[in-house]
Amino acid sequence: MRSTLFLGVLIAFEGIDGSGKTTQAELLSKRLAGEGIDNEVLREPGGTKLGEGVRELLLHRTDLKINPATEFLLFSASRAQLVREKIIPLLEQDKIVILDRYFYSSIAYQGFGRGIPIEEIETVSKFATQNVVPDIVFLVDLNIETALQRRMAAGRGADRMENSEVRFFESAIGGFSYCAKKEPSRFVIVDGREPAQRISDKVFDVVMCRIKKVAEEGNAP
Ligand SMILES: Nc1ncnc2c1ncn2[C@@H]1O[C@H](COP(=O)(O)OP(=O)(O)OP(=O)(O)O)[C@@H](O)[C@H]1O
Ligand SMILES: [Mg+2]
Repeated sequence: MRSTLFLGVLIAFEGIDGSGKTTQAELLSKRLAGEGIDNEVLREPGGTKLGEGVRELLLHRTDLKINPATEFLLFSASRAQLVREKIIPLLEQDKIVILDRYFYSSIAYQGFGRGIPIEEIETVSKFATQNVVPDIVFLVDLNIETALQRRMAAGRGADRMENSEVRFFESAIGGFSYCAKKEPSRFVIVDGREPAQRISDKVFDVVMCRIKKVAEEGNAP
């Protein structure tokens, strides 16, 4: 039995910066559209007008000093809006919703990275998301060096990392693997070192399998 009442399927991509989440989310979206399957990609933070405002604050206002607790609550505020304004209505319309990050990123970054207790993150995240959890989480697994090289090649990110930043990303990787171990049936770990198309083939197979299953359950008497 599914945990939600909807026929729509919620898919999330998680992983550290530069691991390939946006690439995979877009590839999946195009392939689903190619099969005539309605879908929408939503990014975090963002995905709504309010969320994009919060994104601007969090990612671009480098002049602002943001405390880790405030940072977490801002991510959660953007997420709360996204769930209510977009995710739930889209799932109710039986759409496939593809998330480019979700609350697991808060566990990894604000929890394991910045040291906010994991139970606090989980409690607030439950409230922010109305306990709407993804059907599948694809964790794009990639080492920090390769992720950084790719970001540099794409003209994003610094050309070197301070030791503290390396430690932060190492902690975040530990956080994602904590999430995957806690919910092994929800998580699918993909190898981010493989060519994007090959990863996408695997993702697409898993998603199509789930869509068929959900459709069968939905049609069952
Ligand atoms: N499997 C891959 N092999 C080689 N390069 C890749 C692969 N996937 C993505 N890239 C490239 O790596 C860079 C980062 O990818 P992408 O933007 O998808 O990562 P991201 O996880 O969304 O990063 P961020 O967290 O910063 O948004 C891009 O230039 C992208 O083209
Ligand atoms: Mg991205």
